[in-house]
Amino acid sequence: MKIVFFGTQPYDRESFARAAAGLPFEICYHRSHLNSNNVLLAKGADVVCIFVNDTVDAPTVRGLADLGVRLIALRCAGFNNVDLVAAARAGIPVVRVPAYSPHAVAEHAVALMLSLNRKIHRAYWRTRDGNFSLHGLLGFDMYGKTAGIVGTGKIARELIRILKGFGMEILANDPHPDERYAADAGIRYVSLEELYRRSDILSLHCPLTDKTRYMIGDVAIGQMKPGVMLINTGRGQLIHTEALIDGLKEQKIGAAGLDVYEEEAGYFYEDTSDCIMDDDVLARLLSFNNVIVTSHQGFFTCEALDNISRTTLRNIVDFAEGRELVNEVQAGTENQRA
Ligand code: NAI
Repeated sequence: MKIVFFGTQPYDRESFARAAAGLPFEICYHRSHLNSNNVLLAKGADVVCIFVNDTVDAPTVRGLADLGVRLIALRCAGFNNVDLVAAARAGIPVVRVPAYSPHAVAEHAVALMLSLNRKIHRAYWRTRDGNFSLHGLLGFDMYGKTAGIVGTGKIARELIRILKGFGMEILANDPHPDERYAADAGIRYVSLEELYRRSDILSLHCPLTDKTRYMIGDVAIGQMKPGVMLINTGRGQLIHTEALIDGLKEQKIGAAGLDVYEEEAGYFYEDTSDCIMDDDVLARLLSFNNVIVTSHQGFFTCEALDNISRTTLRNIVDFAEGRELVNEVQAGTENQRA
């Protein structure tokens, strides 16, 4: 059975090479992202293995079907980049890795919070340049502050556990509130309005769906506490970036930590340091000293990479051996994750 990988980086190849040792697969790695223009690269494949910035829209699905591809294996949780209806029509099942390390993403969200709060990104450059002044580096105690958490799934619960350790009050919003969890964890479900109004730090952990797309726009930002810190490790399109930029310029938003960006596909995971940036919105974001952008790296820990490669290959083995596909995603599934 031949698996053709798209959008791979050296660390993917290393991790999959380790996990695939002894398995009867022929593997071919491409660096480019899969889309309808380069679908021919999948020629000869039984399975294509893709990541968050590959685009499997209806024309790409048709191309894959024409080439005889029989399985689309996502090596990530999210599947918003796959046209599931087209895949079902073509008879190509889609599998994914539903969870690889909620700890990794939650801990990255905390890293963004602490760096922004205590201005570590600025202090790092200052002291290297012999500037030991504290001017502009004033932070706040996390203890006693309120964190607003949107979505209370796997990642959010890890984050809440850590933030409770700081002594923070936690407000949460989720269309499927789990009151037993809330009582055990000592958190409170509130309306989005209350969450926006009362949170000192706001962190997004819900999936990208038609309901959540651009949930953080002018209206939401208008309801937020002045100086709020906004953290997004969820999905770029949860935030209307131009509204965020206005909020930062008006100092309504005190800081933003963004691991995802709505137009990230052109930049994230690539070294573009030799190029001229043609995305004015990203360039403006990067110009704020109270914004940290990381390149969708929340998942990027040894443990998560290991889980990703092992679960992806187990999904493919299940398919090859005709077993039930426990990690199959089907059209109509609510969760469209990054
Ligand atoms: P999960 O499926 O365990 O939890 C998602 C939660 O969001 C559920 O409780 C669900 O009820 C809730 N939700 C759904 N619609 C909502 C809405 N309209 N408003 C508020 N809450 C809503 O997902 P998990 O594993 O915790 O992941 C959360 C998100 O993190 C993913 O959707 C994904 O976008 C992102 N992610 C980011 C990664 C990174 O590297 N930065 C890696 C993995 C996931």
